[in-house]
Amino acid sequence: MPVMLEPLPYDYDALEPVISAATLKLHHGAHHRAYVHKLNAAIRGTELDGLELEAIVRHSAVSGAAAVFNNAAQAWNHAFFWRSLRPKARSGAPRGALAARLDADFGSYGAFADAFKAAALGVFGSGWAWLVEQGGALSIMSTANADTPLVHGQRPLLALDVWEHAYYLDHQSRRDAYVAGVVDHLLDWDFAQRNLVAEGALHA
Ligand code: FE2
Repeated sequence: MPVMLEPLPYDYDALEPVISAATLKLHHGAHHRAYVHKLNAAIRGTELDGLELEAIVRHSAVSGAAAVFNNAAQAWNHAFFWRSLRPKARSGAPRGALAARLDADFGSYGAFADAFKAAALGVFGSGWAWLVEQGGALSIMSTANADTPLVHGQRPLLALDVWEHAYYLDHQSRRDAYVAGVVDHLLDWDFAQRNLVAEGALHA
């Protein structure tokens, strides 16, 4: 069973005006699709063939198979990124236990948002900003290119893609406008909360 390209969890125009339908069609239908296809071609007939995508990411990080890791991690990162977003009409600030955790670990939701935006803007070249959990504490990290918190011991809660293909059609070189639009209007805090609960961190 090859790794599958899952459909977006919303319509192509659902994230406008921050992320246009044209960008989403290209980003999901060309970039994400290419990572999945190249991964399947690279692992066909190998010991990784048939494994879950997360297991392929972890195996290839250890074995040093760069071509497999880059495509597997990008396939995983993008699937996670789509689920980190939701349409603006359903957006809102974090609630309940996760809101309390953000207050405890960052001082306030506003302080978190500022730090997350700064991390996203600070990625040199292509990469990702992440809200992660490790050892019961929330923190922000960034990764370069295809790198992913999965292989560094952190549990991702939210992802933000800051490769140019994520925003150039809509914002050209203004990564700050894209980042502010996503952080202020499109993050799916219910998804982040589910990831935190799945990790058991709320009950630690
Ligand atoms: Fe991307």
